[in-house]
Amino acid sequence: MCGIVGAIAERNVSGILLEGLKRLEYRGYDSAGIAMLNGSRDKLTDLKTVGKVKKLVTSASKAKIRGNLGIAHTRWATHGKPTVANAHPHSSSKEIAIVHNGIIENYQELREKLLKDGYVFKTETDSETIAHLIHKERKGGKVSLIDAAKKAITKLDGAYGLCVMDKTEPDQIVVARSGSPLVIGVGIGENFVASDPLALGQVTDRFIYLEEGDVAKVSLGDIEIWHGNRKINRPITTVESRSKDAEKGEYKHFMLKEIHEQPQVIKDTLDGRISKTKVLEQAFGVKAREIFDKVKTVQIVACGTSFHAGQVAKYWLETIAKIPCSADIASDYRYREIIVQPGTLFVTISQSGETADTLAALRYAKKKKYVASLAICNVATSTLVRESDFCILTMAGQEIGVASTKAFTTQLALLLILSIVLARRTGLKATQEAKLVKDLSKLPKLIDKALRLSKDIKRISKQFSDKYHSLFLGRGIQYPVAKEGALKLKEISYIHAEAYPAGELKHGPLALVDSKMPVIAVAPNNDLLGKLRANLSEVSARGGMLYVFADESIKFESDKSCKVVNVPISPEVLAPIVFTIPLQYCRIMLP
Ligand code: BG6
Repeated sequence: MCGIVGAIAERNVSGILLEGLKRLEYRGYDSAGIAMLNGSRDKLTDLKTVGKVKKLVTSASKAKIRGNLGIAHTRWATHGKPTVANAHPHSSSKEIAIVHNGIIENYQELREKLLKDGYVFKTETDSETIAHLIHKERKGGKVSLIDAAKKAITKLDGAYGLCVMDKTEPDQIVVARSGSPLVIGVGIGENFVASDPLALGQVTDRFIYLEEGDVAKVSLGDIEIWHGNRKINRPITTVESRSKDAEKGEYKHFMLKEIHEQPQVIKDTLDGRISKTKVLEQAFGVKAREIFDKVKTVQIVACGTSFHAGQVAKYWLETIAKIPCSADIASDYRYREIIVQPGTLFVTISQSGETADTLAALRYAKKKKYVASLAICNVATSTLVRESDFCILTMAGQEIGVASTKAFTTQLALLLILSIVLARRTGLKATQEAKLVKDLSKLPKLIDKALRLSKDIKRISKQFSDKYHSLFLGRGIQYPVAKEGALKLKEISYIHAEAYPAGELKHGPLALVDSKMPVIAVAPNNDLLGKLRANLSEVSARGGMLYVFADESIKFESDKSCKVVNVPISPEVLAPIVFTIPLQYCRIMLP
């Protein structure tokens, strides 16, 4: 995922830009670059490298790159390979430089027109088109940079978080947001921009969050924002420093640190949301009671790990609340015809609250007749929270590891709470609620216990280092847990990992099972255990190597072709959360 930083000040801002890029490294990138200007008579200087920001820092220091105006970027290649040429900033006619997050869908068409106009393209990117388009709209300097940028973006189809600087107007950075987040960092006599406030933590704690469709001119002592033709004011929000979240501390990786934070963040997420005997419905906000009274079905929409949380919640909503529930992938939902049953609550789940497909799904849903939209999100200031009718926040703290861990388990905790408040309306008795809440309050301790399985898992995970493929199996509510396990393994280790509902094994995938294909199964002690055992025998019969995460009470035995890890005994309703922990560990324990 790409990152943007920009700054305008009376001092040299190269250090601020490079520090900002370092702070965005956690998002993943393959190349980085910076462009700077020092006053009106200066020429536009840029520097780009493939690989780590550290390399860019060294090159910048050798080149003594300086300036009081600059933009910088970390790129994750989408159009064109990760090369120096394709790295941002991109320029046009040695005058304009831009950095861009997002994807321009009609760039080929725009590129062809610009080629006819005589523009020379130096990259394979969609983003370079924007630099030339703005240059063209400037009509040789007759049109101001801000007006040219406003005109140019009307021609773009797709998503952009955009920062532009122009040698001939060296007193400003122009920024625009559509489908990709941007904030303005407010300083004293200097201002900044970034795709994430974290990038600017070293210079300010005051931010203006741009809304979709906003365009702004950021100068030394002034910030002007337009939405369409209207000039508008956006509030300044003070954001507490997240520096502790941004440090790895004693841990080797952010992901490991975040896995270990789970007992605490689950506790933080449950705090104030449950009493000893019930869920505190007010936690969902003042409008919640009236909305929940109208709910007859639930539609969940999310992406990636958050979608898996939604799939687990479908089982809870249907078994605890007896309410029909559909869980959809946002990128699919947003493009299809949907039929909304009367009384449907629309629920989005997102760690960041900025995932483009989830936001688009919410906007699409708003045109339909849902009872209301609820966001389950980790970022209070996110677009998703701001655009939803009401929200409940996971208290996971900033999740820096790209592979989501603590966000998932805190989402599950809140989805269980949601299932309980809706179940109250469909006959859940106070005694049953008290039992569920008592179980929930045990969750931090249970997770703590599950974290102690790390040694067992380290032993097993070594056996994966020479494997190219793996299969994850789960039944019922544990199927999405198996999917989440497979996603973690592939995201982190690049080992191909596929999850299957265990009952589907015989309908094809069993043919792939042999000693080279490890099969990982999650086996809680529930009604489906007998069925799961039968599926696992099918694997053994094919000479497959089994790794079973089994509830301790089952007393599943290890043998030559089956390694068992005993998972702490947990109440059935919590099993999806508890079984998630060892699966998060799988690969990262490797040296
Ligand atoms: C992906 C991340 O890009 O986005 C996943 O790699 C994440 O870890 C998914 O689950 C959805 O993100 P969010 O912020 O909407 O939960």
